[in-house]
Amino acid sequence: MRTGPGFPIERPRRLRGSAALRRMVAETRLHPADLVLPMFVKEDITAPVPVPSMPGVVQHTLDSLLKAGHEAVEAGVGGLILFGVPSTKDGRGSAADDPEGVVQVALRHLRSEFGDSTVLMADLCLDEYTDHGHCGILVPESGTGPAGTGGPGGSGPGWAVDNDATLERYADIALAQAAAGAHLVAPSGMMDGQVGAIRSALDSGGFGRVGILAYSAKYASAFYGPFRDAAECAPRFGDRSGYQQDPPNLAEALREVRLDLDEGADAVMVKPALAYLDVIRRVRDEVDVPVAAYQVSGEYAMVEAAAARGWIDRERVITETLTSIRRAGADIVLSYWATEAARRLH
Ligand code: PBG
Repeated sequence: MRTGPGFPIERPRRLRGSAALRRMVAETRLHPADLVLPMFVKEDITAPVPVPSMPGVVQHTLDSLLKAGHEAVEAGVGGLILFGVPSTKDGRGSAADDPEGVVQVALRHLRSEFGDSTVLMADLCLDEYTDHGHCGILVPESGTGPAGTGGPGGSGPGWAVDNDATLERYADIALAQAAAGAHLVAPSGMMDGQVGAIRSALDSGGFGRVGILAYSAKYASAFYGPFRDAAECAPRFGDRSGYQQDPPNLAEALREVRLDLDEGADAVMVKPALAYLDVIRRVRDEVDVPVAAYQVSGEYAMVEAAAARGWIDRERVITETLTSIRRAGADIVLSYWATEAARRLH
């Protein structure tokens, strides 16, 4: 680092003397287009259902989804990402790729409403659709064989997520979401090879234009708690540590990112955001594609809960957290505050 003349010649406070000065020298800027709004859409409800652990967030009806979508688009957010809450669940998550499944219906509505004027994304996973709540197809744990064939999986006593059987499901879901109008599909299940399987399915299905935003470095995090209420997808047993990343690991995140790019990911994501800012920075420094970060449900809930008690200044904390995620290197931030924050930026 260059050494300067030092104090009293150098006085960094000079550049902090007014709001205008601080604005001019700000190194990181938030823009509405950098923000993506995650939205939950639930089948068979007649009014939006509030999510108790996420004040201000609801499970949408089709109508309220469209309305909230308009508000987000008018505020200038970069895009919307959809999560479905189906009425019926089964072992293979059949509703996930049903053309009449809740996300597909919602995508068709949003696409005909918005065309290409915003970016429509769909979370591509099975956990919202399976009766066991895991992100893939479960098989009895054999204790032998490679992980891909139902070997040791760590998904729960006696059960493992079969990696390769799950890939076939993901390929079908990608086709259903693409056919329904998704601009980008966002695989979040952390199966090995998922990006490649989805890319080849999309290409052979005539959806070469549909991109993949890969949740590449998705950690087995306690910050997803409120989401599992919102999406009604808590695992019935076991946890996701057999497929999601272990929080202590950084090099492993870079490996996951490299594999996803090799398989054709158009953009990569780190998730959660605030507890993984170092991972965001390292990924940003390593790759030449857009990097997204997901400010997840638990990050949202913590701030809302503390603010509701008057313990923190809600708006300032929201802006500060979003700014820190951008400063760490994220080009795109998924946030439940996307619409509100975008409005404030005008
Ligand atoms: C999986 C998925 C999850 C989230 C996004 N996609 C849940 C999980 O992995 O348990 C969490 C998002 C959040 O907490 O806001 N489909």
